Amino acid sequence: MVGVNDIRSTFLSYFEKNGHAVVDSSPLVPRNDPTLMFVNSGMVQFKNLFTGVETRDYQRATSAQKCVRAGGKHNDLDNVGYTARHHTFFEMLGNFSFGDYFKKEAIPFAWDLITKDFGIDKSRLVTTVYHTDDEAFAIWKSLGVPEDRIIRIATSDNFWQMGPTGPCGPCTEIFYDHGDHIWGGPPGSAEEDGDRFIEIWNVVFMQNEQFADGTMRELDMQSIDTGMGLERIAALLQGSHDNYDTDLFKALIEASAQAVGVDPYGDQNVHHRVIADHLRSTSFLIADGVLPSNEGRGYVLRRIMRRAMRHAHLLGAKDPMMYRLVPELVRQMGQAYPELGRAQPMIEETLLLEETRFKTTLDRGLKLLDAELEGMAEGTALPGETAFKLYDTYGFPLDLTQDALREKGVAVDTDGFTSAMAAQKAKARAAWSGSGEAADESVWFDIADAEGNTEFLGYDTETAEGQIRAIVQDGAVVKTATGGAAVQLVLNQTPFYAESGGQVGDTGVLKTDGGTVRISDVRKKAGVFVHFGEVLDGTITTGDAAELVVDHTRRSAIRANHSATHLLHEALRVALGDHVAQRGSLNAEDRLRFDFSHSKAMNADEMAQVERDVNAFIRQNTPVDTRIMTPDEARDLGAQALFGEKYGDEVRVVSMGKLAGSGKGSDKNTYSLELCGGTHVQRTGDIGAFVMLGDSASSSGVRRIEALTGQAAQDYLRGQDHLLAEAALVLKAPASEVPARIKSLQDERKALQNEVAELRKKAAMGGAEGGSDAVTINGVPFLGQVLADVPGKDLRGLIDEHKKRLGSGAIVLISGAGGKAAIAAGVTEDLTDRVSAVDLVKAAAAELGGKGGGGRADMAQAGGPSVENADAALLAAQKVLED
Ligand code: ALA
Repeated sequence: MVGVNDIRSTFLSYFEKNGHAVVDSSPLVPRNDPTLMFVNSGMVQFKNLFTGVETRDYQRATSAQKCVRAGGKHNDLDNVGYTARHHTFFEMLGNFSFGDYFKKEAIPFAWDLITKDFGIDKSRLVTTVYHTDDEAFAIWKSLGVPEDRIIRIATSDNFWQMGPTGPCGPCTEIFYDHGDHIWGGPPGSAEEDGDRFIEIWNVVFMQNEQFADGTMRELDMQSIDTGMGLERIAALLQGSHDNYDTDLFKALIEASAQAVGVDPYGDQNVHHRVIADHLRSTSFLIADGVLPSNEGRGYVLRRIMRRAMRHAHLLGAKDPMMYRLVPELVRQMGQAYPELGRAQPMIEETLLLEETRFKTTLDRGLKLLDAELEGMAEGTALPGETAFKLYDTYGFPLDLTQDALREKGVAVDTDGFTSAMAAQKAKARAAWSGSGEAADESVWFDIADAEGNTEFLGYDTETAEGQIRAIVQDGAVVKTATGGAAVQLVLNQTPFYAESGGQVGDTGVLKTDGGTVRISDVRKKAGVFVHFGEVLDGTITTGDAAELVVDHTRRSAIRANHSATHLLHEALRVALGDHVAQRGSLNAEDRLRFDFSHSKAMNADEMAQVERDVNAFIRQNTPVDTRIMTPDEARDLGAQALFGEKYGDEVRVVSMGKLAGSGKGSDKNTYSLELCGGTHVQRTGDIGAFVMLGDSASSSGVRRIEALTGQAAQDYLRGQDHLLAEAALVLKAPASEVPARIKSLQDERKALQNEVAELRKKAAMGGAEGGSDAVTINGVPFLGQVLADVPGKDLRGLIDEHKKRLGSGAIVLISGAGGKAAIAAGVTEDLTDRVSAVDLVKAAAAELGGKGGGGRADMAQAGGPSVENADAALLAAQKVLED
């Protein structure tokens, strides 16, 4: 029997032999299309080649493309498990011509491959063409297909479109008739949905482009896009009409059966089929960077996972089981898709966490559902309120509830569900508008209500396309904006990071076919990312597809600073103790700042240790990992969280650095483990280098560190080097001796300063040891002196010296330092009841043009504008004694 892997390679080498380049599958998350949730066909990665926007060095290509159809225009989720041919994940084999060959070559290529190489019986094949396509009809006829088996179809079934916009065109399809023992009719008949006639290949004649406004244009060149579901052709070649009967699916179904101990092909088979299909889509999505969440792509992933988990529950699985099937999937598909093997630990961990978490509410939700059903009258739908409660309280996506009711033939009142959801949103909004935030911000709530939250793509990419969903100018929503306008833009998805968690918003450029916008900041409001910018030229219009490009150099620097902050946080805890907790941070392009609880300044050894540790983990160059889990799980692992911060149902946990010995919590070898929504480097080595600028007090009990990474760190160190070289030049000493030289200069200066002070004092005392210059007035020894250049603050000390020397007496000193007069007077204790220093100083000050003067009877001071009349001032003081 020919296996799935052989069929894939036969297809690719057939077209390779016919001049086609074999191109790898693109990731499931489209990078080049803002309107598409997942890659849903082989042509998506070639979209711009059909429209002529892009050219490559080949004009013919072939690929086996990973596809997910579980949301958007092509959504097969509801049918999976119940039909022979629907999948959420499948592989599309295709050949493509970009303006090279067209119908005349494409149809025979397909016909030859299936009838010759694959040896399929021609008499079982039926084809369809678009009703007006006589050319395709004629080509089929010329290949020997009887006219009654070339069916003209007038509907969109034979006009293929990837989504609401993009390249498109009429198509021709090849069907295989599995025989009348299976129910179903030929294409175009009333029974066409049965499993008897199965479409195996679709050949699209790409010749048009569809625009959002409903118009369509002819493309400049005529191209070919084809798609053959690998699962269907494999079933056929393996003698079955059922995709789930192929070798690949059997292996997965048997693994599922073994994991739960339930017969794979008995009446429980449908559950195994759902599990096998959903295992593939969830694993491939996780491998391509999608993680379960409550929004956008992550929510589609979660819906698929939970749907599978309910089927595992129906099989009686007591413990998580999906993650145990991953090794079998990797065995089956890991060779064709190496990313699967690389992501295996991540896939297993994500599945296990989601299963463990959902298990508790799944049981309770299903009980509630059963109780509700018992009370319901025959033929009524499940009330929307109940479906909403299952969603809101028990985490049941709507389609899980619908799937659970399907077997019982019960529908859900989806309108009721939608209005219950809207009521809850209105309540949240009312609570918010009461919280006192600016009322004019309500525009963002209106936009969020209408458009939903913005999906952030920037963890994996810095460029992506998004669709402009709202333009705000001067606080109001507008349809268009033109050159020079300051605008705020909301898109359905964006690679731009919106400021949060200390990380600044991204900057960059947004381009549409009509205009260009320079984005200067991005902030989150009411769940949408608001891009602040200026229209540089042209006109932008709501609904436009836009190419978004984040400033790469700036984002790289921000990333490095953010990751370094995590390493710094842990290094501080190791150096200073577990009391160290983050109190604030800034991750900007030019530097990082980290505030943390610690009561005293760090000493030089601690600083050196922290800097050394951070740099050691940078050099270790291990990958930085991100996982999604509940806040409780994260705390159990020992992740650092911001105290008092409110976290949602799930958090991102970023880990980096590997320890040789044992680490913290259950993540034994991880150095740093933090809850964080920011963007990070891929490997610690990307940080480059880390330099601490110093530690200062931020507020009471909180220290602040500023630091640099990468180029900024290098520039800083180079700057320090320059300073040192200059100092060495000035000191005429080798750089290594600069610190010692400065120290000795400082010591020398101190000694000289002391010496000068001593000499001044001596000079002020007039060298007089015996007090001969004192005169006695009214029995009071009086000393009056005019001093040059003695600072006013030194006069008190001199007065004390004179008092000691005289033993008894009154002293008045006047100094003219700095151009002004400083006056001090002193009276020894024994005389203060007869003479007051305050009177002496006042009398002297009056002569010098000064006012007042103050102090006590034994010591007083005053000042004056000029020292010119100093002698007269001394006489005035003397006069006080004489009187
Ligand atoms: N793009 C075409 C399809 O998906 C071939 O059917």
